[in-house]
Amino acid sequence: MNAVDIIIKKRNGAELSRAEIDDFINGITVGTIPDYQAAAWLMAVYFQGMTDRETTDLTLAMAASGEQLDLHDVLPGAVIVDKHSSGGVGDKTTLAVGPIVAACGLPVGKMSGRGLSFSGGTIDKLESICGWSAEVSEEHFRRQLRAIGLVVAAQTADLAPADKILYALRDVTGTVPSLPLIAGSIMSKKLAAGADAIVLDVKCGRGAFMETLADAQSLAQQMVAIGTLAGRKVTALITQMEQPLGLAVGNALEVQEAIATLHGCGPIDFQELAEVVAGEMLLIAGAANDLGDARDRVRAVIDDGRAFARFCDFVASQGGDTAQVEHPERLPAAPLVIAVPAPTSGYVHALDAREVGLVTVDLGGGRQKKGDPIDPAVGVMLAAKVGSKIAAGETLCTVHAASRAAADAAIPRLQAAYTIAAQPAAPLPIILDRMTG
Ligand code: URA
Repeated sequence: MNAVDIIIKKRNGAELSRAEIDDFINGITVGTIPDYQAAAWLMAVYFQGMTDRETTDLTLAMAASGEQLDLHDVLPGAVIVDKHSSGGVGDKTTLAVGPIVAACGLPVGKMSGRGLSFSGGTIDKLESICGWSAEVSEEHFRRQLRAIGLVVAAQTADLAPADKILYALRDVTGTVPSLPLIAGSIMSKKLAAGADAIVLDVKCGRGAFMETLADAQSLAQQMVAIGTLAGRKVTALITQMEQPLGLAVGNALEVQEAIATLHGCGPIDFQELAEVVAGEMLLIAGAANDLGDARDRVRAVIDDGRAFARFCDFVASQGGDTAQVEHPERLPAAPLVIAVPAPTSGYVHALDAREVGLVTVDLGGGRQKKGDPIDPAVGVMLAAKVGSKIAAGETLCTVHAASRAAADAAIPRLQAAYTIAAQPAAPLPIILDRMTG
């Protein structure tokens, strides 16, 4: 069957066979299927969905499209543990969780992505640190994993290359929020990167690709099932993404917030999430007896500074300027910082995470099209979140912008992103559900 027939078959809602999926993914990888056919196929999948069997076949085909890492020779006997987020606004979890887990003695060798649509990406955030590079050779990856216990690398051209091609195309064709495409994208990378145990952070709400709890549960279930089928241990957490995570949205601002969290003084929701995800990683890897024990170990490495020290070692080993980490005020800063006043008094009932993410993209903190450069300094710093009491004229958030025009465009959008009402509102819980394989 040729590519057009496979596109038409999916467009018409039929189930693709394993051979058809393998052929299509192989064609994308070797370049015989051009971007425009891949994009048409993505749109067909977006509208028609995939059966569980098709999603599993897609995942396995993408994982097998390149090299499959085996890191056991680097640290014989160690359980290699990984985490992955399905993507959200203000999600800097890897930046805090990686060093915490590594400081607890568990090696974390991680492939991360760039921003996708309204959600930021770990690599873009870390690149705010002058000199830091995600392009590490396999030899460097192995050496650093052995020496420091923590590596965050860009997905190499050799690792799940089919996902790399499709990921970039999805970002610019409106085909990101598709359950089988997200499940396949995340799990293909996790399987190819060689982790024995994986903690998935499935975001749920306006700032996530899965907006409802039911969709997030179904994505989590599917990823846990695929991982288990492939012989990996998997835990999935479903976490809050109605409003942005923490207070910072924007690359350098989020690095600053992650550093504060490594010192134990991050915003309440983000501190909680970072500690819970790190605890789950210790538990799934057998490095803690139960969640309580895991949480104590996590607190210990934050309190005595080992987690922050590990972050510094990791940044230095990947070429980054540790002076910016030790003095986060030296990270890139926007020339304009403008307060956004509350239009009315009351309590914050909702804060549209997606809109805050889109505003950040429009400020220059994300990409409009494939390959666009991004400005690490811009973004939004929240002062009020759901549950906050606010008086008219008080600051809801601050805009960090490169120009007055960019800030002026952002301010009314940010005001409109807040829903303020007279009656009190409760803060939102951060963990919504948990599933294990
Ligand atoms: N993260 C990924 O790696 N892929 C997606 O599709 C979404 C989030």
